[in-house]
Formats: sequence, structure tokens, C-alpha cells
Amino acid sequence: MKKSTTPYLWGPEADFLVIGSGIAGLRAAIELSQHGHVLIITKGSRRQSNSMYAQGGVAVALSEEDDVNLHFEDTIKAGHQLGREDAARALVEEGPSRIQELIAWGTQFDKVDGKYAFAKEGAHSRDRVLRAQGDATGHEMIRVLLERARTQKNIQWFDHHFTMDLLVVDGHCCGAIVVNEATGHLQVLPARAVIMTTGGAGQVYARTTNPPNATGDGFAMAYRAGAILEDMEFVQFHPTSLYLQSSPPFLLSEAMRGEGGLLRNRKGELFMLGYHPAAELAPRDIVARAIWSEMSASRSRHVYLDVTHLGSAFIKKRFPTIYQTCLRADIDITEEWIPVSPSAHYFMGGIKAGIDGQTTLPGLLVAGEAACNGVHGANRLASNSLLEGLVFGVRAAKSATTFSPTISPKDSQRIVSQLDSGPRQSLEDAEKLRNSLRRLMWAQVGLVRTGDSLIRALAKISAWEPQVEGFFQTRSDLEVKNMLQVARCITEAALWRENSLGAHYREDFPGTKGSAWKVHSQIQCPESDRRQPLQHLKIV
Ligand code: SIN
Repeated sequence: MKKSTTPYLWGPEADFLVIGSGIAGLRAAIELSQHGHVLIITKGSRRQSNSMYAQGGVAVALSEEDDVNLHFEDTIKAGHQLGREDAARALVEEGPSRIQELIAWGTQFDKVDGKYAFAKEGAHSRDRVLRAQGDATGHEMIRVLLERARTQKNIQWFDHHFTMDLLVVDGHCCGAIVVNEATGHLQVLPARAVIMTTGGAGQVYARTTNPPNATGDGFAMAYRAGAILEDMEFVQFHPTSLYLQSSPPFLLSEAMRGEGGLLRNRKGELFMLGYHPAAELAPRDIVARAIWSEMSASRSRHVYLDVTHLGSAFIKKRFPTIYQTCLRADIDITEEWIPVSPSAHYFMGGIKAGIDGQTTLPGLLVAGEAACNGVHGANRLASNSLLEGLVFGVRAAKSATTFSPTISPKDSQRIVSQLDSGPRQSLEDAEKLRNSLRRLMWAQVGLVRTGDSLIRALAKISAWEPQVEGFFQTRSDLEVKNMLQVARCITEAALWRENSLGAHYREDFPGTKGSAWKVHSQIQCPESDRRQPLQHLKIV
């Protein structure tokens, strides 16, 4: 272990900190800028959010044939009735005006014959999914939100700053501790309230559609600060990501099946009707497990997605990003079947939240994938996540304004003197641990789990944990530490839930509804383990 020490800088002070720059974070920051000074903190660049990669679109009940009640029913049904009805109501009822607002700000959703084009996706009873530039919806929505945020004079950016931990004083979250990725300087950023919008943790799995930054930092730091995490066993595996032996998975939007794409097994046979009457458009958890079964039965690493019958011109116009990406991998999807397999995609669980983003830690609000407000239940309905970011980003922002400052600059010396200050440590081989963990989670805590596989995973995680005890200050080391903590939470929750529901499938408990199925797993860091030297500091 190499050792050195670094002092902390204090400030800049802000009214509100927003950690993360995806859809939820940007929308929250724009709302908050009407109420005070906002600091948006992002690791890496502000353009690297998970939302940026969203292809298929955003579900919203805006077409003439649609109705918010239908969207509500589809959301609850896809979530296997585990979802919270008040959260789902808020989503579908406030969604249309959030989208209209985004259109007014300049978002260009695709139109056909002058009218917005609503696409079909799995488990939707209506064509309901708006898209932009065919398959670049997240990119377009982020473009507009970034531009809007840029013009708000109350918003300041801290790009390339990694949030190490939340600052908790006297039981209130009142800021964050960050490390400048370029200089290594540590900074304490005080605020009235913090909004966590750090997204999910797909990178905990060897195969994921998520970009490299989805390492679950928000889950881990909220956990360390004592906030409750809920439903962590519910990890959505997207059925169709491009399978190439030597490249990371690439998302192949559900919209491809919505447009008529077909799934074929290694023998070329269609198989989905054998699993669900809605075939390729069954809910995601069902399609992903059906693919898994076919792969297991044929001892194959993938099945195929066939869109060749849709026609070359249509495919190139409707899925330009996917077409070009596959072509670079030497697959012409207008002529060839695409090798696909499931990949970790989205966390239904997360930091336990009410419908206004309030967590169990006063002063900490949460929105987007980092939150578990219960809207998705046990399985998220396709294309509900961008809408969730908008609706609950605004809701969390409104709640944040109700908090008053709990610390002031006169407390700075006292606070800083009690924070960890070296010796600074670095992991011997962060990359090796990261990769081993990802493989472990894929093999033992993936799409299909058993009590034995989960116990094996926990034993490995326990054996690795001593390596991440200490005061780490580089992004890479801190990410691995966070990933390991998140992996433990997922695995413990998955072991606790002795039934199969939605995205959580236990081979040893295949029945969906045993006794007390409609319960939620909750995990909270024991008080003695919280990395919160200030937890009991009283500010007078
Ligand atoms: C997709 O386009 O299939 C992904 C969108 C989503 O996860 O809802």
C-alpha cells in the first residue's frame, strides 16, 4: 500500500448539490435553479450519463388512442403488482406535461406525416413510445436539458469530480465530499440538500448495456451514510444486447421487436410463443429468461434477433445508430440475423424513496435509477425510465427546497478536522478485483439464481472486502469499493427473497407467490460500520 495525506478544501457552498448529470439530475437542477444556487457534480464529463445511451424512447400517454389509466395499468402489470400505485400514478399523470415542456424547450421527437410517431414496445397495450432520430432518444433529450441548464445562471458545474461520500452532520445530509479527478484535491461541498441522481450499477455485472461509469456510486454512498436501500434484488436484464465474443455488449433496442423483429434460437426456430402469448412483446423479464432457457438448452452463448424482413430502407432510417454499430462489427442487420444475449440493464431497486424523492436520511433526495420509489415494482415497463427521470427529478427538486441549511462556514474547521485524512491508500490491483467481481455477479447473481449460488457469491465478496477497507481517493479505487458494496446488497437481498418475482428468479424457489410475496427487501448499513465520523456531531 502506498501512503500519503491530503488536506480538505472547503466549498464552494451551494444551496443544492445535484450528483449526476443524466435526465433526472439535469431536470432537478433546472427546477432548483429557480430557488437557489445549484452545483452539479459529475464524475468524468457531464455528457457521460447512462441516459445518453437510451435508444428506444420515452413512454408517455399522449397519443389519441392512449389514456393515462392504460399506461398506469401497464406499468403496474409489468412490475408484477409489486409497484407502488401512488408512484405509478404520479409518473403517468405528470409525464405528459413534462414531455410537452421538453418539446417546448426544443426536443425534436420523430414525426410521421406531421404527427408524433408512437412506437410499440413490450408489455404496452398501446403504441406509446416517443423517439428521436430513430434510436437516439436519450441523446436528444440530454442535448436539450444540457442546453437549458447552461442558460440558467444559478447552475454551476463540477465536472470530473468524484463524490466520495455524503456529508452527514447531526443526522442530516448537508453536503458531499469530492475528489478532483485531475488534481486529487479533496473538497467539502456544503449544501442545504443533496439530490442523488447517479443512476444504476450495471457495471457490477460482466455483461451490461450500461456505460463504464454505471458503478452504483450513489447506492454505495447513501448506504454508507445510513440511508435504507430497497428491492436491490430486482435487476432488469435487457433481453437483447449484441453478442460478440471480444467486445462489450451493445444495446439492441426493444423497439426492434416492437417493429416486428423476431427471436430465433440456434436452429433458426422462433421460440417466444412457447413462453408467452405476447411472444417477442412479452414483458422484459419473461423474454430475457426465455432467451436464457434457449441458450442453456442449446449450450449456446446467444440466440438471434432477426429484422431482415423489415426491409433495408426501413431499418437504416428507423435504427441508424444500431445499423451503423453492427456494421462496424461486420454484421449487416438488413441481411443477417444478429447474435444477441441478455445483459444487466436497469435497477428497479435503489435508495428507498417516497414519491417526492425523500429518503430515510433527511436532506438527501433521490430521483431516476438511483431511487427506489416503487414505480417499477419487480420489473420496469420498457421506456418508462426517461419519463421517471423527468417526473421524479422535478418532484425531488421541489422537496429539496423545503430544507434549511444545517451547517455554516463557522463550522468548517470543526467538520474538516473530523474527516478522514489519510493515510491515503491505493488498491493493489483495482482492475483485477473489478473484473473478478463482475464475473462473479454474472455467474452467481445473474438472471437465474439459487440459494447456493448466492451463498457462494457472498463468501467471495466477504473474502474481497478487506481489500477495500481504508481511505481510497482515486476514482478507480473508489468505484471498485462501491461496486463491492453494491454487490453485497444485491446478493443479500436476492438471498432474502425466497420466491421468484419479475426480474428476480430463484431456481430453488420458482413459484412467484409464496407467502408474503408482496414485501420489500430493505438493507441498511449497521451504525457501527457507517463511514460517518460526523454522524453524532451536534451543531449548536
Ligand atoms: C430499449 O430501447 O430497449 C431500452 C429502453 C429502456 O430500457 O426502456
